[in-house]
Amino acid sequence: MISFSDSVTSKLPNTATSIFAVMSQLANEHGAVNLSQGFPDFDVSPVLIELVAKYMREGYNQYAPMPGLLPLREAIAEKTSELYGAEYDPDTEITVTAGATQAIYAAISAFIRDEDEVIIFEPAYDSYMPAVKLNGGVPITSRLKGPEFKIDWDEVRRLMCNRTKMIIINSPHNPTGSVLSSEDLLQLEKLVKNTNIIILSDEVYEHIVFDGKRHESVCRYPGLAERSLICCSFGKTFHATGWKTGYIVAPSALMKEVRKTHQFMVFCTNTPVQYAIAEFLKNGNGHGGLGLFFQAKRDFFLKEIEGSRFTFTPTAGTYFQLLNYEAISDETEMDFAGYLVKEHKIAGVPVSSFYNKGHNGNYIRFCFAKSEETLKTAAEILCKI
Ligand SMILES: Cc1ncc(COP(=O)(O)O)c(C=O)c1O
Repeated sequence: MISFSDSVTSKLPNTATSIFAVMSQLANEHGAVNLSQGFPDFDVSPVLIELVAKYMREGYNQYAPMPGLLPLREAIAEKTSELYGAEYDPDTEITVTAGATQAIYAAISAFIRDEDEVIIFEPAYDSYMPAVKLNGGVPITSRLKGPEFKIDWDEVRRLMCNRTKMIIINSPHNPTGSVLSSEDLLQLEKLVKNTNIIILSDEVYEHIVFDGKRHESVCRYPGLAERSLICCSFGKTFHATGWKTGYIVAPSALMKEVRKTHQFMVFCTNTPVQYAIAEFLKNGNGHGGLGLFFQAKRDFFLKEIEGSRFTFTPTAGTYFQLLNYEAISDETEMDFAGYLVKEHKIAGVPVSSFYNKGHNGNYIRFCFAKSEETLKTAAEILCKI
């Protein structure tokens, strides 16, 4: 007799447990220094923690309004205006989400129908493709060109057709740390002019840009802003990835549709955290100095591995650094990452896991959002390999 479990068919047959969970588990098993998953190992501001506790104690523990608390949406509108000169109406154009991951899913599920094509740049953050597929869409991939991992806009032009519904961009970029320039966004603006293409812009690392560059948010470009859904994350900004609090901003016609999916995914998100972040932002505690903070981490890490056989281009943004191991091994990225954990007790993420169909560029991604002590230990190991 066939058991019920044999009758279960997967909607995502090729999706396995996320590489981050796999590498973190391997790191634990082998007592390895874990630079695989993208989370900081330093503390959230005690002021912010105290604010969350205060709002919990004072009884702000029930459902928040579906789009998020108004004071938080107002603070987001103010921040977006100050930083990028773009105006969004807190009432109709900003929604607080359970992290950027849910913002991305809500945005994709609001617009992608069967057979709609979505252009995705690989290597890509792992949630984009499953979200597109679960909604019947067809991911169309374009590969970023190393070692700078730039978008090939001519290729994008060739991939665009009347089935193209959405283009997903991510700057600063996980896993490569590349950032889009103003010329990139002008190219995109030109390409989508007179089309119905929606842009999903994943800007979770907006404050982590290095070497004096400025973050090019799509909302700085009117021809992009009018058609863009911008996804952001407080987890990255406040070293609080576990709070899963983010938001999405978009013109009202787009946001109206996003709220329809958002409300049936989570309805609303964590109330005391929203109150706390709203007050924290209102008191002037934004992202101040975050870029310089992580730039110092990057520089420290790169200085410490100077003598190693790994090669690299200093990352332009995010808290990830790719290291190339071509001079050390010809193993695949997956095998080499396994070897690093098991034999050298250091965990990174093979960049091939950010591609849908096989790839090998001899790169491992390391997260440097760690204490100097951890980075020093990691670098000592890397220098011996
Ligand atoms: C590019 C990118 N987008 C989205 C997310 C998800 O953000 P959140 O933790 O707020 O869901 C991450 C987290 O690592 C990320 O790297």
